[in-house]
Amino acid sequence: MGLLKSLRKFRGGWPGGWKRFALGTSGDRTPPFVQPNDPDDRRSLLPALGLREYWYPALPARGVKWRKPVGLRICGIDVVLFRDTGGEVRALHNACPHRGAWLSWGDCFWKGFVSCPYHGATFDGDGNCVEFITEGPDSKMVGRLKAKSIPTRTLKGIVFIWMGEGEPAPIEDDVPPELFDTTAMVRHTFRYWHCNWMVSLENTYDSHNCFFVHRNSIWMAMTRYAGRPRTPIGYRARVVNNRSVRVQTGANEYYAKDTPDGKVPFQMYYPRARGYWPKHRYRLAWIWLTERILALKLKLPRFETPEEWEGTRPPGIQRISTWDSMYTRWVIPVEDNLTRVMYLYSSRPASRLDRFRRIIMWPLYNFIVHYNFSDQDFDAIRTVQYSYPEFLSSTDSYLVMVRRLFTEHARGIKRTVAVANETTAEKLVDEANRSLDAATNGPARDAQPSPANEAGAGFDILMTGRTGGSRSRPSQ
Ligand code: FES
Ligand SMILES: [Fe+2]
Repeated sequence: MGLLKSLRKFRGGWPGGWKRFALGTSGDRTPPFVQPNDPDDRRSLLPALGLREYWYPALPARGVKWRKPVGLRICGIDVVLFRDTGGEVRALHNACPHRGAWLSWGDCFWKGFVSCPYHGATFDGDGNCVEFITEGPDSKMVGRLKAKSIPTRTLKGIVFIWMGEGEPAPIEDDVPPELFDTTAMVRHTFRYWHCNWMVSLENTYDSHNCFFVHRNSIWMAMTRYAGRPRTPIGYRARVVNNRSVRVQTGANEYYAKDTPDGKVPFQMYYPRARGYWPKHRYRLAWIWLTERILALKLKLPRFETPEEWEGTRPPGIQRISTWDSMYTRWVIPVEDNLTRVMYLYSSRPASRLDRFRRIIMWPLYNFIVHYNFSDQDFDAIRTVQYSYPEFLSSTDSYLVMVRRLFTEHARGIKRTVAVANETTAEKLVDEANRSLDAATNGPARDAQPSPANEAGAGFDILMTGRTGGSRSRPSQ
């Protein structure tokens, strides 16, 4: 890779020529995050550093060893994590109350305590100063100095942390239910995206995304429509218990209505550009087989989860059923232009053999779904600039609902700008819906009943690319 990179630079004129800082060729750089402050823009209401009054995943528990504390930034707050005398992972504010040094640069000289790197103030899991090394055993700081302690809880090998100011909310309200379920198997992985948490979150379920962005991912190359057939109509959505936005099927069928076989065509002609999309028909050579392989999943029991635990949910959770398992992407704000992303693969193995199969397949699944597939989202969204007004379409209906939910019903949300009840961008979505004869779902005022097949929407969309209304599946 290094050699290739050097050759490319050489072509551009050593050491890089004009290409060196050309946009799109400069590695990981993303535009700075600039939030609007505009009464005509709902994005003005979203906290750039995330919703604080929630539990968040911090890191895998095995990442915290006995001898060395770990420092992390979450929602713009620095925390230090270490193991207490009982072996539990505990968190303190990462600023020594003596003079403010990072405790995470210190050490755990004595098992269960963290010592500051500057004067050796030593704290227990509750943040009490139990020793002050440089003042010796008679130090009067002991018992008086206290570091701010931050609640944590470890579930299935993941440390969760309460980022709110006040009393923690019940963790069951914020963490997916299978994390408390002894029969469930949950695997996790973490990534970093160099963009704002809300830009990351808004990526899911814009209906054009999968068909286009993921067309060449390994997962979507196994399906006819690359996950979701194209449509000018956005997915209808509804709010469940003011806690999540769920997608409904129906939009997928738009281009099927005039075709002789009643199916969405594989290729369509774009007359103004005088070309077809997709440009090639390669995938038809294998999808007859791969779609059948993917459909084998339908023989397995569906992964059950409460209704409000599918879809998009504060503080930054997206859950999509893949039939026998649940795909979870949880975006965790770090800084205003940096997001830690945690993925969960949750399943309830039907037998010991099934469990073994899932453990063996996990590295491959992890690569295909969380790296190959999901990182394409980051490449697509990393240049999204909140600083410009938006011109939304019917396919952004889901997005409108998500923003409504987050800015009106999220815990601890503060309205810092008097945003119009319906912004110009939202009016554009309504207009597009009307001109396409599509039912209007958002703003949040209209919670629509779901069509019969809504339960499998996530699976239909992500696994086979087929639409929900036209296929029967095994009864439960
Ligand atoms: S700054 Fe931490 S002990 Fe002095
Ligand atoms: Fe995507």
